[in-house]
Amino acid sequence: MKKIIIAIDGYSSCGKSTLAKALAKKLHYLFLDSGAMYRAITYYFIEHKVNTNQLTEVEKALKNIQLSFQFNKETADNHILLNGINVDKEIRSMAINAKVSEVAAIAEVRKFAVAQQQQIGLNKGIVMDGRDIGTTVFPNAELKIFVTADTTVRVERRFKELYASNPNITIEDVKANLEMRDYIDTNRTESPLRKADDAKLLDNTNLNKEEQLNIAYQWAMEKINAFN
Ligand code: CDP
Ligand code: CDP
Repeated sequence: MKKIIIAIDGYSSCGKSTLAKALAKKLHYLFLDSGAMYRAITYYFIEHKVNTNQLTEVEKALKNIQLSFQFNKETADNHILLNGINVDKEIRSMAINAKVSEVAAIAEVRKFAVAQQQQIGLNKGIVMDGRDIGTTVFPNAELKIFVTADTTVRVERRFKELYASNPNITIEDVKANLEMRDYIDTNRTESPLRKADDAKLLDNTNLNKEEQLNIAYQWAMEKINAFN
């Protein structure tokens, strides 16, 4: 069976990574959450106090960043390593949430991340989620899905996750961050978040994880069968 590329894009916290990982597991494909790369770069910038307004500082910092992945074929878990160290937990903090969209809007940062994403996808058989996967990273992806959900539902989903490790967090904090990131991601100059013309729309406001997976799996099998 020839393998395809599946690109999943959409707004913050609408279930893209959950869907991408479950789909990859079911298809025995590789899963990559491209947002984790921008988060890891942001973590490095914060730790090393990189002035993101100074291009030379950004370029110098990027030269010192090596991102790698540990993929588990059984579970489709993909752990991200920053210079050899697992940063899965560190990159999910509110401090990263507050800064990541600003960092991801920098052209040099995007060039750095996109080149690696394209390299990882060379052999196809991959489900990658993010903001620009169907428009910029893999404009020829055989299947593109654009996920949306009502803001209230997205905020509740993300709040539940963050509250588990930080009981001080409020629903207002989460809502403000989501809206801010969606605004920056949609309005930036460099590959802004938008639905590719040929992407299928998946509104999962009223769908649970299993239901969204069933829909996407059916779309994937249609494309895979047509491709073979
Ligand atoms: O999980 P959540 O939807 O909150 O965010 P994420 O997918 O981890 O992405 C974090 C941030 O990285 C986004 O808000 C974007 O600013 C940026 N990003 C991007 O610019 N392009 C991508 N392909 C993926 C993420
Ligand atoms: O990757 P993205 O930021 O779009 O979202 P995610 O991290 O995959 O999902 C955000 C949260 O929503 C997770 O806790 C998922 O378990 C949950 N979720 C859900 O409750 N129902 C769905 N249909 C999809 C995701």
